[in-house]
Amino acid sequence: MSGLKEQIKSAKNLPQHVAIIMDGNGRWAKKKGFLRAIGHENGVDALRNVATAAAEVNIKYLTVYAFSSENWNRPPKEVKALMGLLVTHLRKELKTLKKNDIRLRAIGDASSLPKSAQKELAEVIDLTKDHKHMTLTLALSYGSREELARAARNLAREVAEGKRSVESIDEKVFEDALYTNFMPDPDLLIRTSNEFRISNYLLWQIAYSELYFTPKLWPDFGADDLYEAIADYLGRERRFGKTSEQLNTEVS
Ligand code: IPE
Ligand code: IPE
Ligand code: MG
Repeated sequence: MSGLKEQIKSAKNLPQHVAIIMDGNGRWAKKKGFLRAIGHENGVDALRNVATAAAEVNIKYLTVYAFSSENWNRPPKEVKALMGLLVTHLRKELKTLKKNDIRLRAIGDASSLPKSAQKELAEVIDLTKDHKHMTLTLALSYGSREELARAARNLAREVAEGKRSVESIDEKVFEDALYTNFMPDPDLLIRTSNEFRISNYLLWQIAYSELYFTPKLWPDFGADDLYEAIADYLGRERRFGKTSEQLNTEVS
């Protein structure tokens, strides 16, 4: 498998941005007769491995769905366990972030997170802000529809206050009003656990992303699985509306 890693590392059309819907922690735990919270704990280990593996092949942006707007509707005990994991791990993972020169960012409605999580998150974001090798973004209390409505609201406010014209609102301006304004669109979106849906993740941003679905449950997803997904991506032709012939005659 290390051959695959080397092959990916030297590929010239490596995805710049990989997004992941980390799904299947609960089923993983159930299969083993554990509590769901244990599944989430093992999910954190998988994230550490995958983030390190992504950095090792020079992926520039990794954006992972850690907690959706809709996940607030889970049993309070599970929500509490997930928020607890966030608080305990953020600081603990600083070592890995430093070692791999990874900058941490977050997208979503941070204000809805418990105060302790907001504080840890802000601190780790600040402590890693000068790291350059890769940006790891956690989607936390994130929902794409909320993000889009928020962007529309903010732009409407600017128009109402006379700060911008209606005509000035184009795709670029809209993108700048999204949480994700500091990153390029994902090239590759991976979802684990044999679910074939988007679950309100990055709806605007994945307009032209390549989608990859795998039956692996998130805690079982490792470096080799990431490299297999990237290898699959490398074999695809991204046409962006053009014909295959046009792409083959363009100078790259
Ligand atoms: C993904 O695993 C983690 C979160 C949504 C927080 P799940 O908890 O959704 O696991 P399944 O889908 O129930 O197996
Ligand atoms: C999506 O997984 C959200 C995260 C991975 C954090 P879910 O397990 O919440 O998605 P649905 O409910 O099955 O669509
Ligand atoms: Mg799930």
